[in-house]
Amino acid sequence: MELETGAARGQTEMQAAVGADSGLAPTRQLLPSGHPLVDGRTATSPLIQTTLGKPVPHTPVWFMRQAGRSLPEYRKLRAGHTMLETCFDTDLTVEITMQPVRRHNVDAAIFFSDIVVPMKAIGVDVEIEPGVGPVIATPFRSASDLDRLPDLDPGNVASIAAAVTALATELGHTPLIGFAGAPFTVASYLVEGRPSRDHVHTKALMLSDPTTWNRLLDRIATICAAFLRMQILAGASAVQLFDSWAGALSPQDYARNVLPHSKKVFDAIADLNVPTIHFGVGTGELLADMEKAGSSVMGIDFRVPLNVAATRFTRPLPLQGNLDPAVLFADSSSVDAAVLRILDDARGLPGHIFNLGHGVPPDTDPDVLTRVVELVHSESARRFAQSGYTATQN
Ligand code: CP3
Repeated sequence: MELETGAARGQTEMQAAVGADSGLAPTRQLLPSGHPLVDGRTATSPLIQTTLGKPVPHTPVWFMRQAGRSLPEYRKLRAGHTMLETCFDTDLTVEITMQPVRRHNVDAAIFFSDIVVPMKAIGVDVEIEPGVGPVIATPFRSASDLDRLPDLDPGNVASIAAAVTALATELGHTPLIGFAGAPFTVASYLVEGRPSRDHVHTKALMLSDPTTWNRLLDRIATICAAFLRMQILAGASAVQLFDSWAGALSPQDYARNVLPHSKKVFDAIADLNVPTIHFGVGTGELLADMEKAGSSVMGIDFRVPLNVAATRFTRPLPLQGNLDPAVLFADSSSVDAAVLRILDDARGLPGHIFNLGHGVPPDTDPDVLTRVVELVHSESARRFAQSGYTATQN
């Protein structure tokens, strides 16, 4: 029988490629027994099954930056609190993370935090300026600056771990995705001191002083891995590594000066055996190298169609993406057409997690996002049913 869904079609190859078992749950002995992946709450969810290349009743969907300024309830809750204050406040973090799940019926929650939160937790003098982004009082430019990057002390992120644990309980069967910034993207903020288009200071350090560069990225990798590990042990069912600005690099510079450090992050949490997603913007030319970092899923931005991205990898990987966020501002028939085109592109993949190609813009109409979720769910379920495929045939 011709199998219509990507999840079904690529499964055998996918299982061989990722070493997935023949129906047994992946071993996760290192997670606490009450972890949602272990006690059965999230292991069979569409999101987690998709990361394993298993068949699902509908395509799972979530949005990068689904929590945030597009939601009036978020703007209300944030009034009077700085961004970083909010990230270290357990109750605010839980509530803000839950808001888009309640509103949009998405298949995953993304933990409300920021890529600079672990830097703040170790004492880096960083603030997030509204409308600007992370700003570092004293940028990192030389070897002596490395002394400002001690290991992450779990005591300094206790309020964040408490938020993860509370969310895992509140979310029930819906998985929580934890995240961290990848070493290059975090380094670009530390070195530039603020958001940058051209990353000149970062690239200058990388090329002129490779020893300091490698030590800097190695320190960040250790800290980010500890931050991810904390989130996983506290109850996150998957994690995403955001290398948002890696697309600013040539493939040579990426492979030589960045990839080993991103790989270190994935290697450091591999023993926990939870699904991992790796995402960057403008990374079409880097995808083949990014695969080598070792995530279970690759996030694709909107510049490369999913079926084209799939040809850049050595093995069949589940992919996440990739609606252009700007499409959310178009008329509804254009939005629908773009969503359906992405579902078409994803046929034949071993798994597809629907997402945007980058974060939700702050002035997005949230009702458009809710409609996208409905369309992805209904259309993928329809295609799934049409294919005649049932889980028991597998
Ligand atoms: O819903 C979610 O996706 C979870 C929340 C989340 C935030 N930041 C909240 C946030 C996530 C996953 C991030 C990651 C992050 N932060 C990245 C990687 C993802 C990406 O967008 O590429 C990067 C590069 C940052 C750094 C950063 N922090 C930027 C560029 C900005 C925007 C500045 C602005 O005001 O436009 C921030 C601030 C930030 N992080 C906001 C939110 C909701 C806006 C702050 C506010 O609401 O006042």
